[in-house]
Amino acid sequence: MLRNKSYYLWDIGCQMNRADARRVAEELERRGYVPVERPEQAGLMILNTCVVRQSAEDKVVGRLNSLKPLTQDGEDAPGRALLVMGCFVSDERDLQAAYPFVDRFLKPSDIAGLVEFVDRWEEAQDAPLPDPTRPAEVAELVPISYGCDHHCTYCIVTIRRGDMQSRPIAEIVADVRGLVQRGAREVTLLGQNVDDYGSDLPERPDLADVLRAIHDIEGLWRIRFLTSHPKDMTQRIIDAVAELPKVCPSWELALQSGDNEVLRRMARGYTIEHFYELMQRIRQAVPDSTINTDIIVGFPGETEEQFEHTRQVLEELRFDMVHIAAYSPRPGTPSARWEDDVPPEEKERRRVVLEQLQERIAGEHNARLLDQQVDVLVDGQQRGRWRGRTRGNKLVFFESEQEWLGRLARVRITWTGPWSMIGEVVGEGTA
Ligand code: SAM
Ligand code: F3S
Repeated sequence: MLRNKSYYLWDIGCQMNRADARRVAEELERRGYVPVERPEQAGLMILNTCVVRQSAEDKVVGRLNSLKPLTQDGEDAPGRALLVMGCFVSDERDLQAAYPFVDRFLKPSDIAGLVEFVDRWEEAQDAPLPDPTRPAEVAELVPISYGCDHHCTYCIVTIRRGDMQSRPIAEIVADVRGLVQRGAREVTLLGQNVDDYGSDLPERPDLADVLRAIHDIEGLWRIRFLTSHPKDMTQRIIDAVAELPKVCPSWELALQSGDNEVLRRMARGYTIEHFYELMQRIRQAVPDSTINTDIIVGFPGETEEQFEHTRQVLEELRFDMVHIAAYSPRPGTPSARWEDDVPPEEKERRRVVLEQLQERIAGEHNARLLDQQVDVLVDGQQRGRWRGRTRGNKLVFFESEQEWLGRLARVRITWTGPWSMIGEVVGEGTA
């Protein structure tokens, strides 16, 4: 009889990983498991991993080794299992040889593999299978495609997660409907290149078709999607966002560099001129758009002048948020064979220059909302305040004695900073 039906789930990385972690939690809780905060309390220990940069991989290896004493190979382990999933997992056999104390390695997003392992493991331990249904989060993440068909020269994700596999629309609709029935009010559709959705399916549906298919689900108030690739974004998708009121006007459009030569060596498949034109079309069709992007600094061979081009582009295009990463060579990628010739201190300097620029721009964007009223979908509490997001995905906090979780609050903004805002409730928001 299984004594300890509890699980410890450690998760780092992108939104896709977070979506996978939520699915893992849901499957385990359906089987009667309860989450615990410390691995030594758990029957099942699961690490959901990321290796997009060396720093992430170092954290995974550190965490993995720290769990060894708690496993069957360690001294403290009866009835306990350790599973490792996510982008750390390339060749399972090599990994199993290197980390014999791990019970099972699973590829990214292999929830079915995890469920199969758990069912067999439970059978071996003669455990009963209760079936409670887990309430959904207010804002849920829904993968609509896995993997990626692009081959950016720096990216290990496309290697570890494989080619793009889109889910059929009917399956996505059923998934979203189920989440809404269990309390979700917002969904974010996920894909490494969400705007390439469907190009691998026989009828070649696109993201606009998915948006339309879920739009009329009753009880669903907001729809988002990420990450978009500038090369794959079509006018059809932009028009759907403009036309469908539940689709939030917030975009995650990864630019990576503001210099054409660097973009070419990254194999991104577009020019900076194309990117400007695309931004213009988006802002024209959806005037209240908020647009976020990703930038890598210190790519092999990136000169001061090329970096300066990126700085100028950020200054001109005035994104709402920019995720800035220092380039990290990843094994097996084409760029890992090139000299990593921008020294770490210089990468850091470039990163800080962009961070400071963006902090100013983000602060200016948010300051325009001072005294304005915005509708905030409340998804939780933090340090005694209610927390939620605007349609433009801006974080807003407010104080109130009322219960606001899962509701829309109309909030007048009284303070703004670059990363969040504070306001006071003036009434109920409109879905
Ligand atoms: N699909 C998106 C796109 O079109 O770029 C992004 C997916 S990627 C897995 C997530 C982010 O991690 C990228 O936007 C990039 O900025 C960052 N990233 C990926 N590989 C990296 C590397 N080798 N070094 C630094 N940052 C990296
Ligand atoms: Fe990676 Fe480029 Fe795809 S960043 S996930 S190969 S679009």
